[in-house]
Formats: sequence, structure tokens, C-alpha cells
Amino acid sequence: MPNNIEFSDRLKQLPPYLFAEIDKAKRAAKAQGRDIIDLGIGDPDMPTPQFIIDALTSAAQNNSNHHYALDAGMSQLRQAIADWCKKRFNITLAPDGEIYPLIGSKEGLTHLPLGIINPGDKVLIPDPCYPAYRSSVMFAGGEVVSIHLDEKNGFLPNLSEIKDAKALFLNYPNNPTAGVVSKEYLKNLIAIAKKENIILISDLAYSEVYYDNEKPLSLLEIEGAKDVAIEFHSLSKTFYMTGWRIGWACGNPKLLAALAKVKANVDSGIFQAIQVAATEALKNGDTAVKNMRTLYEDRRDTFVKALKEIGWDVPSPKATFYIWAPIPKTFKNSMEAAKAFLDKADIVATPGVGFGPAGEGYIRMTLTVEKEKLIEAAQRLKKIL
Ligand SMILES: Cc1ncc(COP(=O)(O)O)c(C=O)c1O
Repeated sequence: MPNNIEFSDRLKQLPPYLFAEIDKAKRAAKAQGRDIIDLGIGDPDMPTPQFIIDALTSAAQNNSNHHYALDAGMSQLRQAIADWCKKRFNITLAPDGEIYPLIGSKEGLTHLPLGIINPGDKVLIPDPCYPAYRSSVMFAGGEVVSIHLDEKNGFLPNLSEIKDAKALFLNYPNNPTAGVVSKEYLKNLIAIAKKENIILISDLAYSEVYYDNEKPLSLLEIEGAKDVAIEFHSLSKTFYMTGWRIGWACGNPKLLAALAKVKANVDSGIFQAIQVAATEALKNGDTAVKNMRTLYEDRRDTFVKALKEIGWDVPSPKATFYIWAPIPKTFKNSMEAAKAFLDKADIVATPGVGFGPAGEGYIRMTLTVEKEKLIEAAQRLKKIL
């Protein structure tokens, strides 16, 4: 890069990418031909169900799908989203005005602040959290106010801290802690948000990755939520479609209009063949989604049991495919633990501190590898605990 090119102040203020060191070490280990078990990535290992691929393949043959898509997405997709939300959460959403398809939920989550946050506005961000929330607020010039997610409170923000801010990001089931939320808590949260005039930005990317029949709630199930809330959904984890890039936002029409206006200036819609395939997934995907849950539940039970047998008693997640475990006592901090996992056991895991300072003391391991590998991982960890 020529010397006279400088990154913007906006970009320079982003925190260092704490996973970079682990990523580099992982790549080096793989290049050496080591047999790495990667429990680091939040990306399903399974293929997208065939009926969705078939829908894409046939829609891709149709010339009418080859052009710029409408910003607001195809009406058939918005209707399928509305029907799915009705069936799953018993919420009623107008396909025109209360639903907005996205190029993956990350895209919408990160663009929304540009439409609603002014420089200096305070935004409450959980710590630890999915890192995109923090950077999107910084890009918009907002002030990040961290709220500590404490294990003692079930990794829920302390309600007394929900004040003096323009917006709050919320994510249950939670990445990385696997925390879940009750209806009672959400009711209280909405009452506070209304009183304090705080916008609620709910990220429901893991709504379908739950166990023991405890279905996560949509914030929009709570009366009055639509007055203050926008919710982000994703097909990525639900249908093993991370690479396809499709999700949606729903809820308050004015918040959706802000997001739509930003997007109209940034992107040109979602490839229509993907929208057709997503419509098919939402309409006919119930069995596939059930199978997904059964697969992770089996892996979860196997891994938690195997770790217990080697003397590491980790919490069993109620939802998500993440195990968020306090680091074994042998290690000083989460970076040291993750480094030892990789150097001495050829296992990639994510240091909790990468999700924010409050993630220190924890390590995140994903259930996105086969059962046999999870058993093998526990055996390898036995040597270093
Ligand atoms: C909490 C959370 N929200 C959003 C996303 C983004 O998902 P999508 O693939 O829909 O952009 C992820 C992806 O890992 C996530 O963990």
C-alpha cells in the first residue's frame, strides 16, 4: 500500500481483532498437516437440505430471476416469512411494511445503526457479544456503553442498567454464552424501553437451535413490542444456509423504513433465485429443522458427557450450538487456554475475551463437528487439563 493512503479514523477506532492470533495459529497448524479439530467456527458442517438446493437450481434457470431484485424482496418471500412467524411465534406481521428481507442478518444488524444513531448517541451493547454490534455502532459514530452479562444473572442484562441510551442490542438465544430469556424478563424489558424511550434491537439468529422443547420467544410476542422493537432473523443456522446470505428484519415499521433507506443506498437486493429457495425453506422446512435440532442435541449430550468423564464439568446449553465454559483452572486466561488447546491438543476453540472483556475466563466450543470428533476432542483435552 502506498505510504500516503491512510485508513479512516472511523476504521482506526475499531478494536483489534482478537481472534486474529488464533486464526493465524490455526492456519499454520493446518498447513503443517496437523489433524485439527475445529471447534472455533459458528458455521454448521452439514449441507443445506437438498429440497432447498433444488429450488435454487430451478430458480437459477429462470431468466426473470437474473435481474436486479426489488429492494424490499419478492412478495412471495415476505408472505412466506409472515406465515412462518405466525406459525412459529403466533405473531402477525404485515408482509408490506413490517418485514424486510436481508442479505443475511449481519448485513441488517450492521446497517441499522447508520439509519438511527447520531454521532454521540449512546447504545447499550452486551458484553460479551457477537462482535458486529459494537463495530456497527462505532461506524455510525455512536458511543458504545457495555452492559455486563453475568453468569449469576443467567447472562441477561441487569434491567436497572437499561437507561440513558438510544438503543439496546439483545440476543437470545445468545452467542457466545448460550443464555436464554424468559417471557417475564422480556415483558419487563419492553416496559422499561417504553418508559426510557430506548429502541430494542433483537437478534434472533438462533431461534430454531434449541433443545428439550424449550422454544425461544420472539420479542414481538410481547404486547406492545412493535412500538419499540426491531427483530433480526436468519436462515443461516436454521437451514444450514450460512453461505447463502439471507435473513430478514421485522417489527416496527419506522425502524424498518430507516433500515430500508440505508440499504437502498448500499445494496441492490438479494439474488431472486435465493429468495425463491428461501421461500421454499420456510414453507416446507419443518422436518429439516427438527432433524437439525436432533443432530445438535445428540452432539451436545455426547460432548458434555465426554468432557465430564475427563473431569471438566461444562454447562450443557439449552439453545445454540455453543458450549460456553469457564476455562479449566490450569490456565491463567482465555487466550492462554485457547493457545494450549491448539498447541498441545490440536483443538481450535475461541477465547472468551474475543467477545468482550466480560468474556474473559471463558472459552467457546462449537458443536459443528461430527460426534466422533467431539469424543476425540475430549480425549485429547484430557492430557492438558
Ligand atoms: C448472534 C449472531 N447474530 C447474527 C449472526 C449473523 O448471521 P447471518 O448469517 O444471518 O448474517 C451470527 C452469525 O454467526 C450470530 O452469531
